[in-house]
Amino acid sequence: MSDPVSDQITRPPDGRAPEEQPRWRQDFPIDQHVEQYVTRREFTKFMVLTSVAFVVGQFWIAAQSLLRRKESAPGLEIARLADLPVGGSLIFDYPEPGQACILVRTGEREAVAFSQLCTHLSCPVIAQADQGRFHCPCHNGNFDLATGQPLSGPPRRPLPRVRLEIRGEHVYAVAMEGMAV
Ligand code: FES
Repeated sequence: MSDPVSDQITRPPDGRAPEEQPRWRQDFPIDQHVEQYVTRREFTKFMVLTSVAFVVGQFWIAAQSLLRRKESAPGLEIARLADLPVGGSLIFDYPEPGQACILVRTGEREAVAFSQLCTHLSCPVIAQADQGRFHCPCHNGNFDLATGQPLSGPPRRPLPRVRLEIRGEHVYAVAMEGMAV
């Protein structure tokens, strides 16, 4: 039968018999040489594998978002230039019904469109083309009309942009950019 004390205590550093060792060695019987240390090589391997996994993950996310963007370019006719004066705006749903966006005609053959939902707390923004901005009346937020970037007020993120194509006399929405995934 084995001695429970000598089973627990490993190599007393002072060479005394296990029975003479202080009480704490019975509570902490593991010697330094048998502890499981993570070697530098193991740590480096772990870091390399973690980094590789991170990079692969980023590529995967980028590929998915590219694929989704390509898939979501159906080309929806949203206006006829003849029906919308320069400086005028209209609301349309894109890319799905119920997802309100706002189109503003900014020139003879130029227009911009963004999600109508304010990036602060989702109130609908209104176009103020003469002031070069979209205005959110809820908390007095403002976005640049040309870029959708926040100008003032609580919003910190830009309005997601609708990519447009003008073909002949018709304006098409062809993709959504900058949507939170
Ligand atoms: S919801 Fe638009 S500024 Fe707050």
